[in-house]
Amino acid sequence: MRILVIDDEKEIVSMLSRFLMKKGFREVSGEHNPERALHAIRNGEYDLIISDLVMEPYDGFYMLQEAKNRGIPFIMMTAHASVDSAVKAMKMGASDYVVKPFNLEELYVKILRIEKEKKLENENELLKQTEIIAYSPSMKRVLELVNNVAPTDFPVLLLGETGVGKTLIAHLIHQKSKRNNGKFVSINVAGIPESLLESELFGYEKGAFTDAVKSKPGMFELADKGTLFLDEIGNISMSAQVKLLKVLEEGTFYRLGAHSPTTVDVRIISATNSNLNEKVKKGEFREDLYYRISVFPIEIPPLRERKEDIAPLVNYYFQRFGHKEGISREAFIKLQSYSWPGNVRELINVVQRAIVLSGGKRIEAEHIVLHENLNAEVGNLMEAEKQMIIDALKKTGGNKKEAAKLLGITRKQLYTRLKKYGLM
Ligand SMILES: Nc1ncnc2c1ncn2[C@@H]1O[C@H](COP(=O)(O)OP(=O)(O)OP(=O)(O)O)[C@@H](O)[C@H]1O
Ligand SMILES: [Mg+2]
Repeated sequence: MRILVIDDEKEIVSMLSRFLMKKGFREVSGEHNPERALHAIRNGEYDLIISDLVMEPYDGFYMLQEAKNRGIPFIMMTAHASVDSAVKAMKMGASDYVVKPFNLEELYVKILRIEKEKKLENENELLKQTEIIAYSPSMKRVLELVNNVAPTDFPVLLLGETGVGKTLIAHLIHQKSKRNNGKFVSINVAGIPESLLESELFGYEKGAFTDAVKSKPGMFELADKGTLFLDEIGNISMSAQVKLLKVLEEGTFYRLGAHSPTTVDVRIISATNSNLNEKVKKGEFREDLYYRISVFPIEIPPLRERKEDIAPLVNYYFQRFGHKEGISREAFIKLQSYSWPGNVRELINVVQRAIVLSGGKRIEAEHIVLHENLNAEVGNLMEAEKQMIIDALKKTGGNKKEAAKLLGITRKQLYTRLKKYGLM
């Protein structure tokens, strides 16, 4: 994240920059001259601008306007506890504000939030740009079902192994629905500790708990008029299931610490790679919740059961990654006959690796490194390295210093390898 800090007091600029670097942000620039700062916003590439308000001749509002025109997130630092200017900044489109003197950790939390939002936006952008490849009859059927269900408000349950495209299809349903002006909010319900799940989903009011210095909307509110994607729903605890069921049934909920309920208009899409039916039978998943979310189930088959999609996917991703030199028949057969336990996600990785290994030239079978061959591949590499060392020692008549030089490694590295390969 590239951050620009602007304040007419030099000390503040350097103090903030040092703090941010310490927190692990590596690209932090600072500017104490407002004129030059303005210039930097116009010419530089930043992901976030943190600026003071009161400066001459250009103040923070000026900076904010420039940043906003370029779609750059902005945090305003207001010197005096002047709530009015903070409100004005927010109205003008600032992402957030801090009131001086502020706690640095507070600023840090705000930056993290902006970073997270940016990441979500990027992910959604990426999903929008991805073409959905569907040549097999089963994938064509999936797209048909998507077209049927998208315009309705029915809850959809996407079923399928990891990497088959559940997230992609969920986003497509949102895009094809009349809710596409609202947000597509995705939450991995299994990835959130239970203690946080409620506040993530429903938000909280200021003072609801010790850290709640400001009220915060939850995912349900963010997704109002849009779509809420509940990923990995098969793995949530029983008590979380109860809470979820309640809001799905009633359409209203309470922010933590709130006295009145919040009502939202949200379409729910859920996804799981586990067998929910089984879980219901075993008593690990509530039957009533299962019926609520599975009104319209769509099953996305694994790649090995729709091999017709492999070639088009490979071609699409070669093109997307700018590979133009084609692929040999043998390489293709290797891709075609693999079982793809990681499905499309794994295929994308294999394609990327092949492009790198081929050095941008035509892709041969040896450039296709599949999971099942990974161990063998490492073995091959070790064998090749051992042979190179033996050759170098031969050439130099056993002189290790010369051999290391020939191999382009240090003498110490050579000794480690000699030991590793049992050559000394
Ligand atoms: N039919 C398709 N055409 C093009 N790209 C696809 C297709 N299906 C999946 N992908 C891509 O494969 C990757 C994995 O897909 P996605 O994340 O949607 O899978 P998933 O089922 O949600 O996986 P997980 O269960 O791990 O969350 C993504 O980069 C996605 O864009
Ligand atoms: Mg997913």
